[in-house]
Amino acid sequence: GQAALSFAGAQAKAQVPRRIFGSFVEHLGRCVYGGIYEPGHPKADEDGFRSDVLDLVKQLGVTCVRYPGGNFVSGYKWEDGTGPRELRPVRRDLAWHATETNQMGIDDFYRWSRKAGTEIMLAVNMGTRGMAEALDELEYVNGAPGTALADRRVKNGIPESMGVSMWCIGNEMDGPWQVGHMNAEEYAAAVERTAHAMKLAEPGLELVACGSSSAHMPTFGSWERTVLTKAYANIDFVSCHAYYYERGSASLQDFLAASEDMETFINTVVAAADDARAANQGSKDIALSFDEWGVWNQDVWNGEEDDWKRSKGLHTEPWPQAPHQLEDIYTVADAVVEGSLMITLLSHADRVRSASRAQLVNVIAPIMAEPNGPAWKQTIFYPFAEAAQHVRGSIFVPQVAGPKVATKDYGNVDALKAVASWDGESASGVLLAVNRDVRAAHTVSVDLGSLAAGATVRVKSAQLLHDDDIHATNSAVQPDRVKPQALEAAIGADGKLTFQMPAVSWAAIELG
Ligand code: AHR
Repeated sequence: GQAALSFAGAQAKAQVPRRIFGSFVEHLGRCVYGGIYEPGHPKADEDGFRSDVLDLVKQLGVTCVRYPGGNFVSGYKWEDGTGPRELRPVRRDLAWHATETNQMGIDDFYRWSRKAGTEIMLAVNMGTRGMAEALDELEYVNGAPGTALADRRVKNGIPESMGVSMWCIGNEMDGPWQVGHMNAEEYAAAVERTAHAMKLAEPGLELVACGSSSAHMPTFGSWERTVLTKAYANIDFVSCHAYYYERGSASLQDFLAASEDMETFINTVVAAADDARAANQGSKDIALSFDEWGVWNQDVWNGEEDDWKRSKGLHTEPWPQAPHQLEDIYTVADAVVEGSLMITLLSHADRVRSASRAQLVNVIAPIMAEPNGPAWKQTIFYPFAEAAQHVRGSIFVPQVAGPKVATKDYGNVDALKAVASWDGESASGVLLAVNRDVRAAHTVSVDLGSLAAGATVRVKSAQLLHDDDIHATNSAVQPDRVKPQALEAAIGADGKLTFQMPAVSWAAIELG
């Protein structure tokens, strides 16, 4: 079919928030141990960090990393991961039923982040702990020398403030699986007090209240209204979490259209945040921190957990150390869906001011690190990397006309989805597009309209991610089985950009 994208009259929607290219490192499975940290690995550096993984993190273009959880944080004592390694306690992690050695902690993650060039976004424990420990952690992490906890950090070898600005006050506190889970009123009271106290310590902090763990939680919407109305004064962001997978979707076409669910999710949370602003007669908008998103192929939360663990060969022994957990292998279709989710986040960049793709290494991750072996890129690495490396300046959302696809859950939706950015300073931009149609290729014609502020542009490079086998994957043995290929894209005499998108494909076209 023929699809038309038009930027005629399109206004810049927002400046690209750099934190939208964030990721997530949790003490879960082999994300930390055997992922970012593996002393003894041939590629480990002087701190025990895998340099091959660090190289891939840089190529991915990650800007900000949420740490240390996730469900893990709700039973975590932050001080366990500080100071001399030989003195750190070994503990049980109730969230993932594993043994936590605490050989990595905030001191080490700070050092890792400096090497990776990434900002840190910290989550505090609101499950087994609360306000007092959050304040202690804030003093340890950011405080100026001269008080007890800041001096402890100095003694541990970090004289400077870690300068962490963004703090998540708990994780998924609405989820019955969460250690110390709460109802909306309980959490609203706890987050209101904690945020107030943290801002007394540092008014410039950017604080994130837990929103819903998914749009399918029974309290979705009402949770956000209750929490944000109560905590409005000191909260800057509300979190959103969403995972999608083919087996959990009504059809393959529905899976490919999963970004429709994310659209509804974002619009609903924005409405709740705006209600909270009105109820408080406030003037600031609460932004969205979409701090867990991605494709997660395993159905862990529907009561099938034991069967699921067995089928995936995951640990059934009681408290293993860094077991193989949630090590999804991603397909081309998964990569196309992740590309469409990235387009959706960027299209809402006026309100989605931060996002963290979950997770970074080994655990539902774009980067795999073989124990004592090489690190390699999953299919989903590429859409993220193309966006993070090239999206700069202002965001523009086109009008889409053309073929539709039929889904069970979302009705008839556009086969094509796209977003573009333009950076006036470097006079360059990028168009990101996805063909979500399971069956048909489409010819795409783009009216660049006001995208480049009327300047004449040319195609600098064009990449396509596609495979005739939409379930093709990469592996340690075949790490380059799936990767972007050159795409033919041209701007004609009529000024229109045209290219072909096969069924189930992702494209990134650089303009300048
Ligand atoms: O990312 C994996 C888990 O998914 C996180 O620990 C939790 O927050 C979410 O349920």
